Amino acid sequence: MAGVTDRPFRQLCRRLGAGYAVSEMVTSRKELWGSLKTSRRADHSGEPGPIAVQIAGTDAAMMAEAAAYNIDRGAQIIDINMGCPAKKVCNKWAGSALMRNEALALEIVEAVVAVCAKSGVTGGVPVTLKMRTGWSADERNALRLARLFESAGIAMLTIHGRTREQGYKGLAEYDTIAAVKTALTIPVVANGDIDSPEKARDVLAYTGANALMIGRAAQGRPWIFREVAHFLATGEHLAAPTVLEARDWLTEHLHDHYGLYGALSGMRSARKHIGWAVRGLPGGEAFRQHMNTLESCDLQLQALRDWFDELGQTHDRLPPTVAAANDEDAQADEACAA
Ligand SMILES: Cc1cc2nc3c(=O)[nH]c(=O)nc-3n(C[C@H](O)[C@H](O)[C@H](O)COP(=O)(O)O)c2cc1C
Repeated sequence: MAGVTDRPFRQLCRRLGAGYAVSEMVTSRKELWGSLKTSRRADHSGEPGPIAVQIAGTDAAMMAEAAAYNIDRGAQIIDINMGCPAKKVCNKWAGSALMRNEALALEIVEAVVAVCAKSGVTGGVPVTLKMRTGWSADERNALRLARLFESAGIAMLTIHGRTREQGYKGLAEYDTIAAVKTALTIPVVANGDIDSPEKARDVLAYTGANALMIGRAAQGRPWIFREVAHFLATGEHLAAPTVLEARDWLTEHLHDHYGLYGALSGMRSARKHIGWAVRGLPGGEAFRQHMNTLESCDLQLQALRDWFDELGQTHDRLPPTVAAANDEDAQADEACAA
């Protein structure tokens, strides 16, 4: 997820139970590879394998080159983005817009698969792909594309159960994902609106998918992965983390975050992670607003520690959160801009 799943956040999710975490998307536009944003996105130092890098673009040769470039920088799996609805990506016909141009989509897949087959140690680098159910309710072509992509050598397919037209609105549907799973032999990953262990169990059962992908529900709640894994394995709920555990995970995350982005930019971009972490908790909104006025990493860390310590005086474990509205369309638009 652009603007979310940077290396520090991926590492935290992996530590807290995620089996797999894909990088933020990296543009196939070569002129941007030297930019700070792209070079940070291609930074995998200390990351546990498999290192999966998502690439986005509209030109088959450029996408193949982007795959090779990222493999040289440590990618062990290349993921093609055909799911992003963001305007800046779609205006250039990348992301989910590619689903509307099936010939170009297939050309990109073939070019990336060909270059990845020749890369890596043995047997080449697997290529996976993420897409939506289609462009709109009238153009729901995920099943047709999935068959084409499997024949072209895609090793695993993730489907977000919304159309491009929906953005992040409405509800994800799982019938299309179930139909794709029935038709293919490669692993299929179900995605969209999975935000609790029960939902995870139900989506797995309904779609027959081989795995689940969780996005927004992990923002500020990366322990959702271990909660889901525990529930699927035992049928029982894992207790919520203690307030002090959450405080310490967030503190470690912030240190890693400042390390990657530097003090000034890290302090600013950390605000969104802190905001997600306190969202829906008692007093969380007031704290978020206060925290946005603090202008140094030390002040941010101290405020966070004080706030969680105070919460810890009335709660041993994190209390259930109250759902808060979020404008994911705007957030994704901003984050996905190449
Ligand atoms: C801010 C934001 C950025 C995203 N960036 C990407 C991206 O770079 N690549 C991608 O495949 N999906 C991206 N997505 C989509 C998510 O991966 C996921 O498909 C979607 O949020 C639905 O799953 P969820 O309900 O579990 O969040 C993004 C979503 C959001 C909200």
